[in-house]
Amino acid sequence: MKLVVGNMKMNIVTRRDRDRYIQSLRESSRKNVFKGTCVVLCPPFVHLENFSKSLPRMVELGAQDAFWERKGSFTGEISPLMLKEFECSWVILGHSERRVNLGETNQMVHRKVAAALENGLRVVLCIGETGEQRRAGDTLRVLEWQLHEALCDVAPAKIAQMAIAYEPVWSIGTGLTPEATDIAMVREFIRNEIVQIYGSALAKECRILYGGSVSSANTRMVCVDTGMDGVLVGRESLQPEELMRIAQIVDGG
Ligand code: PGA
Repeated sequence: MKLVVGNMKMNIVTRRDRDRYIQSLRESSRKNVFKGTCVVLCPPFVHLENFSKSLPRMVELGAQDAFWERKGSFTGEISPLMLKEFECSWVILGHSERRVNLGETNQMVHRKVAAALENGLRVVLCIGETGEQRRAGDTLRVLEWQLHEALCDVAPAKIAQMAIAYEPVWSIGTGLTPEATDIAMVREFIRNEIVQIYGSALAKECRILYGGSVSSANTRMVCVDTGMDGVLVGRESLQPEELMRIAQIVDGG
């Protein structure tokens, strides 16, 4: 199964906008049937309940973060168990906006990955280099470091519950994307790293996605031509029609 994940970030501010969004998603999803693509939508936490009650059947629910503890005195945090309760099957972890704005470290991401998996959530782990790191020729070194630190101790049986999203930080929200050959090279690199840790049979189960300024205009280039297993979509996921168009292309349409 290919994967199209919509990261709605801190958008859809009012209840009215939320209801309009859900309505429009239901309409556009009626027109689409995917053979081998799963669509996952990750709205802000406060909208999870409404989304869980009214998402079209073909769309799964996810969240944009989760804490590493299940319960207790952790002001402002959201537990993986709460996400399960609200019918989330996926959670995005290690997004660069959290690493940059909130100082999330690889160690924190690792604790979150472990807790999410342990509590039955599937994880989209985000990794990616900054523009500066890219210019310094450090892309692969950064990816290797982020990947190994986040995955250390993740049991082999759990790797099938994960997707790794390659999201170059300089590409997020900028309209810029790497060349297809660069994305394909990174895909190969990530795949080899996972093979080295988990062996080739298990590594096959872990999906590798591309994220960063994905739109229906470039999905073929960034995903289909590069052999990626799907995409992580930010801004364009705020337009349900566009999200469905992207999923259609990923699905081979
Ligand atoms: P973008 O965001 O598609 O708006 O670039 C992607 C992401 O941050 O996941």
